[in-house]
Amino acid sequence: MRMLIALLAALIAMPALAAPETVSSPTGVLSVSVDVNAEGRPEYSVSRLGRLVIAPSRLGFLLTDAPKLERNFTIQAASRRSTDEQWEQPWGERRFVRNRYNELRVQLAERVAPGRRLDVVFRVYDDGIGFRYEFPDQSSLAQVNVAEELTEFAVSGPATAWWIPAFQWNREEYLYNKTSIGEVGVAQTPMTVRTADGLHIAFHEAALVDYSGMNLQNEGGGRFRAVLTPSSQGAKVRRSAPFATPWRTMQIADSAAGLVMNDLILNLNEPNKLGDVSWVKPFKYIGVWWEMHLDKSTWGPGPRHGANTANVKRYIDFAARHGFRGVLVEGWNQGWNDAWFASGKDFSFTRAYPDFDIEELARYARVKGVRLIGHHETAGNIAVYEPQLEAALDLYQRLGIDAVKTGYVADMGGIQARGDDGRVHHEWHEGQVMARHHLKVVTEAAERHIAVNAHEPIKDTGLRRTYPNWVAREGARGMEFNAWGQPPNPPEHEANLVFTRMLAGPMDFTPGVISLEGKDQKIQSTVAKQLALYVVLYSPIQMAADLPENYDANPGPFQFIKDVPTDWSETRVLNGEVGDFVTIARKDRAGENWYLGAITDENGRAFDLPLSFLTPSRSYRAQIYRDGPTADYRTNGKDIVVEERIVTSADVLHLQLAPGGGQAIRFVASSKR
Ligand code: NOJ
Ligand code: CA
Repeated sequence: MRMLIALLAALIAMPALAAPETVSSPTGVLSVSVDVNAEGRPEYSVSRLGRLVIAPSRLGFLLTDAPKLERNFTIQAASRRSTDEQWEQPWGERRFVRNRYNELRVQLAERVAPGRRLDVVFRVYDDGIGFRYEFPDQSSLAQVNVAEELTEFAVSGPATAWWIPAFQWNREEYLYNKTSIGEVGVAQTPMTVRTADGLHIAFHEAALVDYSGMNLQNEGGGRFRAVLTPSSQGAKVRRSAPFATPWRTMQIADSAAGLVMNDLILNLNEPNKLGDVSWVKPFKYIGVWWEMHLDKSTWGPGPRHGANTANVKRYIDFAARHGFRGVLVEGWNQGWNDAWFASGKDFSFTRAYPDFDIEELARYARVKGVRLIGHHETAGNIAVYEPQLEAALDLYQRLGIDAVKTGYVADMGGIQARGDDGRVHHEWHEGQVMARHHLKVVTEAAERHIAVNAHEPIKDTGLRRTYPNWVAREGARGMEFNAWGQPPNPPEHEANLVFTRMLAGPMDFTPGVISLEGKDQKIQSTVAKQLALYVVLYSPIQMAADLPENYDANPGPFQFIKDVPTDWSETRVLNGEVGDFVTIARKDRAGENWYLGAITDENGRAFDLPLSFLTPSRSYRAQIYRDGPTADYRTNGKDIVVEERIVTSADVLHLQLAPGGGQAIRFVASSKR
């Protein structure tokens, strides 16, 4: 009898091993299984076409002031729903986006005191998965102070990874490593892996709102664990329930191209919260910018001050002559002195240096049909910036300046922010404080119909869907590294970006330096590749980064930069391999013309390209900008051939890309045949 009681007691204490909860994608390509193991630890796994791709991986949290939320759970309930809808982007890579998924909500509850509850919601698409935690309203967990998120991603089987390190001095501005997954350290996201049998998975997050950015720590055996960005306050995230975390995402495709043709990140974000956003205009711009990076002029005041009225008028004239909407001017405001770097303590965002007549320049631009683009370099000092933010944006609004570039030049952990205690604390670029800060800037700007382009930003997680005035950001090594970076960007860099950083969203890379000249170094590219970048690296705002005189000296290639739009109705990724090459075709949102960009790494390559993406009923004048016969990024990047042919969708073009080269094509549609 005693034995029987003991046995019964043991049975009651054991977790009820119910069947796992599962959900499949709409056509059954992907499926997710969620379970609690013998210790009551919640975990999930992912299969693709019946093959395990993410082995059982943990879910949960460490808290700073309460027992960890990680075991002793039971699945209390599970519910399912499905969505299949289409929504329209105000601007983007494509006009219409299909949002089609099956959702599984798993309600977890601790089976021991204090019986806290935690929901995990999975949205399963045919080409990817997002899941997030939702903390329900509950008295036993009203304030959630997250020490660490324990989410894991266990890649099943050997794989190669493309990644940049997290928590390093230069924030997001690193060259990509290509290693086996076993050699990854702590990686930023997006991190892209390719398994031995050719499956591509990109790990990232969507809708990073009031939370800290996620990085991935290699735990060995293909297993990665979330590491949240630190905070000065101990807890990496401080929220009160109810709230939801950002989505943890996996874009999954059997080709590299399939990763790019993927709307998971956007779909997981909330719809537009700004209402009518017809005032957000995609545009191209030039700027008093590259000349400073070349040290031909200075940001700070003095005899070589770049932001002087005469010089800016020269740029405005150039923009008006060649059809650029915007002129960016950096180094215009008082406080931009020798001691600005990582300090920002003297910055005024409303007072211009005396040799920069902002009222006159705004007027001069306006009569020429051009807009100044504002610049708020903060040096990471948001304690100085935030109190001035509203006045600074009011000034721009009054002057008709409807786009601002923000900047946060400071080393890792070097953001200066005022805490709840009124004191200045040091924070990280991707911590919760900055997640809040960026949305504050974006929403204040939206009230004044101003678009935002952040440099040294928080990572892109698709918030442009919710706040369409957040048009672009940097967040990777851009063109500036070709001026002074050691080393400059290697030829494979952009072919890495397309399949990693660009999966997150638009980048203000600032292409188009067709002089191929950095400060004391050559740019490792051909001219044709510089043109192709306008199609390959998507952004609704694109800079023509070179000096005006270099464009005047090269009218042939410059014509493509003048012609290429920045807003598209359709995008097709025609081929590509991570870090090697890629070809993308996009259709002008404003008409029938198509544009194509192809780029390669240090290896030349040739391939045939069927033009079947073109509309069958039309013929097109293909204006081709291709690497010339002697083109090579090492010896002769400037060899470019510009030629025209008549083509139809039945034609096949033979593309030949030089080492470090590329090709750009504008397909001008004829009227219907
Ligand atoms: C870094 C930005 O990426 C660059 O575009 C800008 O010119 C400098 N900071 C100065 O703000
Ligand atoms: Ca930068």
